Amino acid sequence: MGQTVTEKILADHLVEGELTPGEEIGIEIDQVLTQDTTGTMVWLQFEALELDEVQTELAAQYCDHQTYQFDFKNTDDHRFLRSAAGTFGAHFSRPGNGICHNVHKENFAAPGKTLLGSDSHTPTPGGLGQLAIGAGGLDIAVAMGGGAYYVEMPEVVNVRLEGELPAWSTAKDVILEMLRQLSVKGGVGKVFEYTGPGVETLSVPERTTITNMGTELGATSSIFPTDEKTKDFLKRVGREDEHVDLQPDDDAEYADELVIDLSDLEPLIAKPSMPDNVVPVREVAGESVDQVIIGSCTNGGYADILPAAKMLEGREVDKKTDLIVAPGSKQASEILARQGWTAEMMAAGVNFSEATCGACIGIGHVPASDSVSLRTFNRNFEGRSGIEDDSVYLCSPEVATAAALKGEIVDPRDLADELGDLEDPGLELPDQYDGSKADLIAPDEAVDDDLIKGPNIGDVPLKDPLQSHLAGEALLKMTDNITTDHIIPATSDILKFRSNVPKLSEFTLSRVDESFAQRALDADGGFLVAGENYGQGSSREHAALCPMYLGIEGVLAQSFARIHKANLFNFGLVPLTIDEDTYEKIEQGDDVEIVDDVGDGVRSGQEEFTVRVNDDWEATAQLDASERERKILAAGGKLSWTKQQYDEG
Ligand code: F3S
Repeated sequence: MGQTVTEKILADHLVEGELTPGEEIGIEIDQVLTQDTTGTMVWLQFEALELDEVQTELAAQYCDHQTYQFDFKNTDDHRFLRSAAGTFGAHFSRPGNGICHNVHKENFAAPGKTLLGSDSHTPTPGGLGQLAIGAGGLDIAVAMGGGAYYVEMPEVVNVRLEGELPAWSTAKDVILEMLRQLSVKGGVGKVFEYTGPGVETLSVPERTTITNMGTELGATSSIFPTDEKTKDFLKRVGREDEHVDLQPDDDAEYADELVIDLSDLEPLIAKPSMPDNVVPVREVAGESVDQVIIGSCTNGGYADILPAAKMLEGREVDKKTDLIVAPGSKQASEILARQGWTAEMMAAGVNFSEATCGACIGIGHVPASDSVSLRTFNRNFEGRSGIEDDSVYLCSPEVATAAALKGEIVDPRDLADELGDLEDPGLELPDQYDGSKADLIAPDEAVDDDLIKGPNIGDVPLKDPLQSHLAGEALLKMTDNITTDHIIPATSDILKFRSNVPKLSEFTLSRVDESFAQRALDADGGFLVAGENYGQGSSREHAALCPMYLGIEGVLAQSFARIHKANLFNFGLVPLTIDEDTYEKIEQGDDVEIVDDVGDGVRSGQEEFTVRVNDDWEATAQLDASERERKILAAGGKLSWTKQQYDEG
């Protein structure tokens, strides 16, 4: 039987298991990436595993989320990351050099290779045929040590693209349409593989906008085949020799098929506060806009900012609207500056930022209270912008720029009619991505050969092996779609403690219940209860690590997001799935007891556990775990388990 592109790459890298959907497979990892919010833990775990050198073909440490060094803790973290990269053999990208996915795409992403990254938008280079997957930091540390990465073999879904995008419709509208149709849970356990005649009409930057936001669908990854457009992009970034032909076989079989006719797409927008809350722009036209931001790993490249610059040329941003442009890479900034576009944008009223994630996680450019912000980002979860009750819309750079010019949401086609001389700027790539590499430090240029830890950088906490008897209070009952931002907010005042778990833990779930951390410590353990899709969002392993530190034993949820569930195993928390009736019946404050011997049950492959509540009623909870995940859970987490493996040789 023929193979899909996904299956071809997986087959090339398979070290354990079979390519049967739902079965756990182990794959060899060629490249890893990590960023500053997750990276400190990655390297502390790498150190705790007593590893001395990166074993993958390539590892890259980026500093992109928390780049502003307004507090010594951030600067200490950046210095620690530089020292770790130097000591263990990774590339180091300095703060301000850009967002990991943009810089990786421009410098290292390669078709046919596997990439594992401690950031949920790691699938971005799927747009140039790389099979890239987001994972927790501990998985990255193990992969960098040469260990396989284990994941449930996803179903491969064929997204067949027909036609060609009409004027003013963009790649962002393709992925917003997917979200409109499939929702934020529509991709769980799946890889979206794009095929069809529409593929060749899209450039690599457009493809990476689509693969980047496949994460919002909950997908394991998203990927495009390679072709002349891939070759062309690799040539422009000076790596033409890394091209490989990757096409699905004619008789490849897909688990499902979805057809999108690009010609039918119109400018779309995601309304507050979920990326799948998508409507045509015209439906919300007229809404006044206070702030517009163009940037992020989704739409922060040269090809995203140039259209905005062209639309702004010779015009001015509306007086009541702030327009911020935050490029995804310093290289994009540098090229735009050399070409004169930065000056054009500044003259039009743009506040031009350094290349950073920043505002995407509420670090800088926080919207005013009771205001509307339009962003070209990928997520608009409530409060992520840095203010509760925010009102953040997601759209393409063209829609964002049109809104900045008009001061209100407007379909750019209507604005073009109104202005008479505004044309669809189209898409253009630089002849060469020829920016300086001054901020990218290769392993052979390393400036440190030992770890440098500031006073805020602590140790990695370890958990004891799983107990036989688990009982405690249902400390918090939460709704559906709880994000990792709810569990550990990523705002600057909190994130600066990312290397100091005891301190960071004080903020656990504080956005849901301010007293939670103290209550958990006082209760000396207990359970979390949640609805569907618990832990969606980022790969942030602190969202499992901090509850573990507070003594949480397990999570009872109707369903879990993929990366977060893996992180729960990695930190020894039992993820149990409950049905809707049980979820409805269980109350915060109830006494919960797992009746079975949990330690034995986990080790022996038991799938159903009896949960007794208030000594009054019982329900069944499922443990859906592979043999390997059970061993990890029994050992008290992946760090302890991996150490055991090393000790056993
Ligand atoms: Fe950064 Fe936001 Fe992307 S935090 S990695 S720009 S999703």
